[in-house]
Amino acid sequence: MEYWSFSNGFGLDNLIRKSGKLPRPGPRDVLLEMQAASLNYRDLVVMRAQHGKMVQPPLIPLSDGVGVVIETGKDVTGFKIGDRVCPTFYQHWQGGPPPADLEVGRLGGPLDGVLASHCVYPASTLVRVPDHLSDEEAATLPCAGVTAWSALSEPAPVRPGETVLILGTGGVALMALSLAKASGARAIVTTSGPSKAEKVRELGADIVIDRSAEENWAQTVRKATGGIGCDRVLELGGAQTLGASTKAVRTGGTIVLIGNVTGNNAELFLPLVLTRRLTLHSVSCGSRAAFEAMNRALEQHCIRPVISEIIPFETAPAAFTALETHKGVGNICISSFPGSGR
Ligand SMILES: NC(=O)c1ccc[n+]([C@@H]2O[C@H](COP(=O)([O-])OP(=O)(O)OC[C@H]3O[C@@H](n4cnc5c(N)ncnc54)[C@H](OP(=O)(O)O)[C@@H]3O)[C@@H](O)[C@H]2O)c1
Repeated sequence: MEYWSFSNGFGLDNLIRKSGKLPRPGPRDVLLEMQAASLNYRDLVVMRAQHGKMVQPPLIPLSDGVGVVIETGKDVTGFKIGDRVCPTFYQHWQGGPPPADLEVGRLGGPLDGVLASHCVYPASTLVRVPDHLSDEEAATLPCAGVTAWSALSEPAPVRPGETVLILGTGGVALMALSLAKASGARAIVTTSGPSKAEKVRELGADIVIDRSAEENWAQTVRKATGGIGCDRVLELGGAQTLGASTKAVRTGGTIVLIGNVTGNNAELFLPLVLTRRLTLHSVSCGSRAAFEAMNRALEQHCIRPVISEIIPFETAPAAFTALETHKGVGNICISSFPGSGR
């Protein structure tokens, strides 16, 4: 098989293309020929060696990918050759509350990820993907898609007529936009400039706030909601946005903490959190059951993830560089895997 691996350390200089033996499936495993992968912000954190002691080289990167079943172990039921499937981000979270050792089961660190021509997974960790999606679109589902789904489902599902504020236009944010609109919610999206703002309007956002022109976006959100504030914030910014999110959300509303692209240490004005009776709920991707539930919604509403750029397998490191600058909106994908192209 062909694969990319952080071999002698992290950093793009250490991301090396390699060849190895084809992995063999055990009795309950499935061998996949990978077709496409998708990057998440987390993959940058891993590449920069900032993901903590548990994630160490040698490591095949990336958690999100889609493959085709080319061999099944003798005890496998439910999958057949030719099925198009994704491995789950958490390999050991089937459903219900998260397991106590949640962190050990993540693909793309500490477990080897999907940037390989062939991968073997236990059949119990695979999810069949909707037919209407391209390989690149399907590749975005395990982490970016499921996280967006969880952020709109927890601690209670978003309801028609509610207003959801989504920060940024990355992979999680834009899947959340599609799912929020399909739920009948009103979506407000913040972004970093006019050209991204235009794209997000085209994708169906009800209100788009260009942060480069409107610094006080919390006030804009309150005005747009009749002074009340939004029902839910999908907080992807972290340190530098959390304070404004507490001002943008209504009394009794929920801030779903998903990401921290602007830093790790936030300062909060607690009287505001207390008097507004805010709920701060954190989300960590989701289970296999959540993935399957999301897929039913994608099929029902014919939702397609937004792809900003596709980079071939042979120049895979360029995808990390593209994610660092993130000029487009949505997901950056890798395709043309060796042996793919059914
Ligand atoms: N909890 C989980 O399970 C989970 C799962 C997936 C991702 N995450 C986290 O969620 C975050 C986003 O992940 P992703 O993979 O979707 O990232 P991504 O595709 O790299 O997108 C990041 C986006 O953040 C936006 N951004 C940058 N600065 C911002 C700011 N000051 N305020 C608001 N938005 C800003 C940018 O959009 P604009 O230029 O349009 O503003 C950018 O496109 C990351 O922190 C990631 O670690 C968490």
